[in-house]
Amino acid sequence: MPRTQFVAAPPVGSDLKQISGPATNWIAQLLRQRRDPVAASREDEATYGPVFVLNMFGSKWIIANGPDAAQQILMNKDRVFANGPAWAPLNGPFFERGLLMLDFDEHRSHRSIMQQAFGRSALTSYLRSLHRIAERHVGEIPEGSVAEGNPVLMHKYLERLTLDVALEVFMGVKLPRDEATALSRTIIDTLHAGGSMVRVAIPGNKWWRGLRGRRTLEAFLGARITAARQEQGTDLLSMLCHATGEDGTRLTDQDIINHMIFLLAAAHDTATGTLTSMVYYMAKYPEWQKRTRERSLELPDELGFDELAELTELEWILKETTRLHTPIQIEPRAAVEDTEVCGYHIPKGSLVVVPTGANHYRPEIFSRPEEFDPDRFSDDRAEHKSHRMAWAPFGAGPHKCLGQHFAGLEIKMVLHHLLRKFEWEVPEDYVMPVDMSATPLPEDSLPITLRRR
Ligand code: HEM
Repeated sequence: MPRTQFVAAPPVGSDLKQISGPATNWIAQLLRQRRDPVAASREDEATYGPVFVLNMFGSKWIIANGPDAAQQILMNKDRVFANGPAWAPLNGPFFERGLLMLDFDEHRSHRSIMQQAFGRSALTSYLRSLHRIAERHVGEIPEGSVAEGNPVLMHKYLERLTLDVALEVFMGVKLPRDEATALSRTIIDTLHAGGSMVRVAIPGNKWWRGLRGRRTLEAFLGARITAARQEQGTDLLSMLCHATGEDGTRLTDQDIINHMIFLLAAAHDTATGTLTSMVYYMAKYPEWQKRTRERSLELPDELGFDELAELTELEWILKETTRLHTPIQIEPRAAVEDTEVCGYHIPKGSLVVVPTGANHYRPEIFSRPEEFDPDRFSDDRAEHKSHRMAWAPFGAGPHKCLGQHFAGLEIKMVLHHLLRKFEWEVPEDYVMPVDMSATPLPEDSLPITLRRR
């Protein structure tokens, strides 16, 4: 049993409880978290209560478990929790002044302008391109077999596809293959740099490549914005260039650059990882692949907004996958005042973390939470409705994911095409090894057997 550490005591005479936790050093703690974050969380909650403190990356993180704490922190009714000072140290300088890093009135004003690029009419205008990209990329995936030694590494193909979504749907550019590959590489360098353990630039290292990538993206987007302001395109960047707030304000060029770089990051691993994990679960549980394929075969090749909503079973699989492999495992916040969460004293300046990934495994909310069971989201069972925050992979409150509907359309569109063209499987004893250090992604790129139907 490790020694116990304490957060500052509540004021004298207060009924609030003092937060405690294991005094384990942060490297040992990080290794423990990476090994099995859910088991570590359960263990600490049993010893120290639902709100406890951990040493992480050289600072103290207050972990606030359970849906009540998540609701209180993320809804932020008293405006005591800020995003910028909590997310910025984790993300590094790569997503400076992206929407997630803004707070309070400034955040609300930017978000209301950006919302126009995510409303139903904007989403409908992206659908045509999403369909074309999904059709083209799925058409290009070769057949392969695990048993014959030429498996299809599914994550690589899905990543290529979502990068083309970033270029064509987000930025409105269709580049020759080699230029597209170079720009995609730049995007990946920028968005993965924040996860680097070495957090200073040394020529050639991840951090250095991230800074170089950000500069390249800034220059590329700057030129695109000049062109997009002159036209009325239907890509996301053009929408942002022409969107206006209630008082007629517009985003500056620098605002759009900052928001676009963050959007590219927010959309990439989240959607690619979810797609890959869905392909995995549909291989592990072929009855679900069969059910969803039957549904997709009843519908046309090119789907509209309402038809995508009819893919009910696929929607349950999407929900179950984002429960089991929650793309954003934690939502950190900085307390800007002394406050409380679920009866615990939180001193001003604390870093408070909502562990959404671990919350999704709570047995009092989800029956047999370790099992893949999409039916739990059916109207009959609706386990996710037992609490407003029972299932919350897209967050909640003022910073709730702006791209939730976009992600749903993209993911369902790709799987609709995949289901119509292919059947796939993995060996019976295969379990996908998942790297949980940031967004859950397969360590082996998910090798599958893929056959044209
Ligand atoms: C499966 C896919 C996705 C998941 C699970 C996801 C999850 C999340 C979560 C949990 C947050 C809130 C973080 C916090 O409160 O600290 C968030 C914020 C955000 N997401 Fe997503 N996301 C996904 C895809 C996307 C896509 C495709 C886009 C853009 C097209 C996007 C754009 C954003 C933006 C702009 C924010 C910041 C919102 C704000 O601060 O107001 N996300 N996302």
